[in-house]
Amino acid sequence: MTIVSLRAIMDPAFDERYGVAAINIVDDLSLDAVLEAAVELDSPVIIQTSLKTVKAIGAVVLEKMFRARADEVAVPVAMHLDHCPDREWISICLAAGWSSVLFDGSHLDVAENTVQTAEVVAEARGYGADVEGEIETVLGVEDGIGSDVAAEVHPVEVSAQFISSTGVYCFAPAIGTAHGLYKGAPDLKPERVTELVELHPIPMVLHGGTGLSEAQFTDLIARGCAKVNISTALKIAFVDSHREYLEANPSKHDPPSMLGHVRSAVKQVALHHIGMFGSAGRAHAPTATTG
Ligand code: 13P
Repeated sequence: MTIVSLRAIMDPAFDERYGVAAINIVDDLSLDAVLEAAVELDSPVIIQTSLKTVKAIGAVVLEKMFRARADEVAVPVAMHLDHCPDREWISICLAAGWSSVLFDGSHLDVAENTVQTAEVVAEARGYGADVEGEIETVLGVEDGIGSDVAAEVHPVEVSAQFISSTGVYCFAPAIGTAHGLYKGAPDLKPERVTELVELHPIPMVLHGGTGLSEAQFTDLIARGCAKVNISTALKIAFVDSHREYLEANPSKHDPPSMLGHVRSAVKQVALHHIGMFGSAGRAHAPTATTG
C-alpha cells in the first residue's frame, strides 16, 4: 500500500471510535519497527516526525525513505509532521509530500493563530494534505518545542470557533495531558473532548500518550480522540535498548546484532500501544484505502 491521506485513516477511526497510533519515529530503524508492528496487528498507523527529526535527516530524504517503506507494507500509513510553529518548514514538508501537518500556533494569540492556521489549511489543500490545529500549548517540551509552564486553557467555545474559522481537519485540545513522563497522576479533563466533539464533530488528537493507562486511552478514544500520539515511550525504548545491549556485550562490535535488539524493543512499544487503541484488524476499513 502507499501513503494515504490522514483523513482516509482517521475518518473511519473517528466514526467507529477507535484510535490510531501516531508514533514519532527518529530514523529508518524506528520507522521499520513501527511499520512491522502495524503489519503484525493489521492496523492503520500514522508515522510522525518532529521538526527536529526532519531537520536532522532532511525533508526530501525522509519522505523518500518513508514512501519506499510504506509502499512495501500492506496497511495504510499516513505521514504527519508533529508540532511545527515554523511556516517555512510547514511549506517544505507539504511540498515534499507529507500527508498532514500540525501547525503549532499555540504561542500566538488565538486571533493571529486563526489567521495563520487558515492560511496553512489553504496551502495544504493544494497538496491534498490535512492540517491539525492547536491553540493551547501542550505541557512539556518535546524535541525542543513546547513549554514546561502550564498554558492558558480557553473555553471549548473558543476552540470550536477556531475549528470552524480555520477548517482544520483535526484538533488537539488541552485535556490535562503532557509530553514526556508524568511526574504524578495527570489531572485529565476528558469532558472537554466530549463537549468539543458535540460542538464541532471532528477527530480530536490526544497528545502526551506516554504513561496513560489503558482505561484512560479507552475513555478518551470513545469520546473522539481518533489520533493518539506516542513519542517518549519510543525514545526511551530506543535509547535504553542501545544501552542494555552495550552493557551486556561490552566487547562486541556487531552493529547488526545491536540494531536488531533495538528494533525489537521499539517494535514492542508500537505493538503495546497499537494493541490498546482498538485499531488492530482495521487496516482494511472501507474508506481506509483512498488517498
Ligand atoms: P509523549 O511524548 O508524551 O508520548 O507525547 C507525544 C506527543 O504528544 C507528540 O506530539
